[in-house]
Amino acid sequence: MIVAGIDVGSLSAEAVLLEDNRVLGYCIRPTGAQSRHAADNVFSAALAQTGVGREAVSFVVATGYGRVSVPFADRCVTEITCHGRGAVFTFPATRTVIDIGGQDSKVIRVDARGTVEDFAMNDKCAAGTGRFLEVMARALETDLQGFSDLAAAAREAASISSVCTVFAESEVVALISRAAPREGIALGLCRAVVDRIAALVNRVGLIEDVAMTGGVAKVKSVVAGISAKLGVKVCVPPEPQITGALGAALIARDLALNLKKQP
Ligand SMILES: Nc1ncnc2c1ncn2[C@@H]1O[C@H](COP(=O)(O)OP(=O)(O)OP(=O)(O)O)[C@@H](O)[C@H]1O
Ligand SMILES: [Mg+2]
Repeated sequence: MIVAGIDVGSLSAEAVLLEDNRVLGYCIRPTGAQSRHAADNVFSAALAQTGVGREAVSFVVATGYGRVSVPFADRCVTEITCHGRGAVFTFPATRTVIDIGGQDSKVIRVDARGTVEDFAMNDKCAAGTGRFLEVMARALETDLQGFSDLAAAAREAASISSVCTVFAESEVVALISRAAPREGIALGLCRAVVDRIAALVNRVGLIEDVAMTGGVAKVKSVVAGISAKLGVKVCVPPEPQITGALGAALIARDLALNLKKQP
């Protein structure tokens, strides 16, 4: 049986195709202005990549910020539930999931089956999210990969005192004009994200193992900073951005099996 999970996030959309317990393939695309088009594009791309026909997919679960705009979904499930499920599937000992996406940061406590027990998320503010890093990458005249590489090459972190994205950006501009090394500025900005996440972790409580999902898990200095600040190992999936869609696909499989069982 083949099922699909679609995660339409504020910045990127992902589709995962699952056959039993095996990921057949996945795709990641920018969400853009229209969630509906993003969902359709990413699903079509994953089908084309795996050679699976649309009619062969028994059940589709949509998640993420744009989940209600996926007309072909059989069910919608929250991202928190899907990230919990996807993280425990990838690393079964996970009890705390840190998901940092473009717009939201979440700390989720899960049980051994990946069911959510508690969570905390950022208020309506970009600090401590991927968007914060995107704005700062632009101020440093680089892209996200370049930003990540700069932070990884830093000897010493610059001190960034503002929590607010707008004020922190002004601080970055001032530091650049004083010829502060860009590497240290990038690492200082990663530390600012780490501090925000550590505060969220405190609200939920820390239980090991810890896994990190979402696009910001690709920024090695943020992962290393969280690990150092919390004093724990942080597991990162090979493709952290698809964890929500993977969890959605796993839930789709459960729902499809339940439907089959019903007379
Ligand atoms: N190659 C990369 N290197 C570094 N950072 C990256 C990379 N790709 C994505 N990111 C980061 O990931 C963020 C997007 O993450 P993700 O795709 O999980 O967000 P989303 O699910 O669309 O958002 P949300 O869950 O908040 O609605 C970007 O803002 C950026 O900071
Ligand atoms: Mg997301």
